Amino acid sequence: MNTFTSKLLAWYHVNKRDLPWRQTKNPYAVWLSEVILQQTRVAQGLPYYERFVATFPTVRDLADANEDKILKLWQGLGYYSRARNLHKTAKEVANDYHGVFPKSYEKLIKLPGIGPYTASAIASICFNEEKAVIDGNVYRVLARYFDVDTPINKPEGVRYFQALAQSLIDIKSPGDYNQAIMEFGALQCTPKQPLCTSCPIAESCQSYANNTIDIRPQKIKSKPVRKRFFHYLIPFDQHQNTLITKRNKKDIWQGLYEFPLFESDKILTEKELKMHPELPNWATTAQWVRFQDEVMVHKLTHQEIHADFWILEGVKKEFSIPWNEVPKLGVPRLIDRFLQKFSR
Ligand code: ADE
Repeated sequence: MNTFTSKLLAWYHVNKRDLPWRQTKNPYAVWLSEVILQQTRVAQGLPYYERFVATFPTVRDLADANEDKILKLWQGLGYYSRARNLHKTAKEVANDYHGVFPKSYEKLIKLPGIGPYTASAIASICFNEEKAVIDGNVYRVLARYFDVDTPINKPEGVRYFQALAQSLIDIKSPGDYNQAIMEFGALQCTPKQPLCTSCPIAESCQSYANNTIDIRPQKIKSKPVRKRFFHYLIPFDQHQNTLITKRNKKDIWQGLYEFPLFESDKILTEKELKMHPELPNWATTAQWVRFQDEVMVHKLTHQEIHADFWILEGVKKEFSIPWNEVPKLGVPRLIDRFLQKFSR
């Protein structure tokens, strides 16, 4: 075994945290823990893991669960599509695999919602398959130890680090190796102020020698995030019909439906909004009620949308869409989030 791997494993056996998913090789438990940990740090993820295992002790329990209940338990972790994927995967394991997780990387990766990271984690931890994981911790530890300047957010970098991680895996305990490198990144080789003076591999760490710890891993700067402020009006006429139209502008969400939208360069107050030059006449005479106090923030790759929603009752104009038709239309996730919270 190479020095890096043997020292890493020795460190892990002494320093690893005692976590419930480390007491088991049950792929269902390991899968749950890994999906939750992709979303959050160990300390925040732990109570979610415990609630999920207590509420749904087996993959069949999760498969049979009501989606609302799963989403509720997931609440606070964000990216709800991950929770829906979790349910989808559970159903597939329950129905197509008789409730037994497949036992190889090749089969695991075919399941919806299971990507290379999760498939590698389950295959290595539960079935001793030599499949190296890469996550943020792994990138950082390897980029520093080998002083790699290839950016990690380029396909070339992903391939490079995947191959490097794979070349270092311990064939006897691939699951421990994967967990060791992640744990080492979380506890010792931390993003800020890593504990180099007490590090068992500092003497052979290339970044430590070259004084490049702070600039590893290398990332290419992505475009700055553009902040946008959206004000949606949700109008109701006397028949409880509303106005929702297809978004045709060459912009985000082209082809999806949306309520009347007024964009500005900051969040506007009710008074400012009512003075908006493009506001239609029917809006000025309606009764306005702000939906929820906080502004909803929706993050896209290069944009951050800050949105608020105004319910307009008693609009003196006739619209053509009955409110109960709205859920049938394709809407951006932001509006879907609003609709899920707003019940009428
Ligand atoms: N991060 C995600 N999964 C992990 C694991 N199994 N051990 C340590 N850190 C992790």
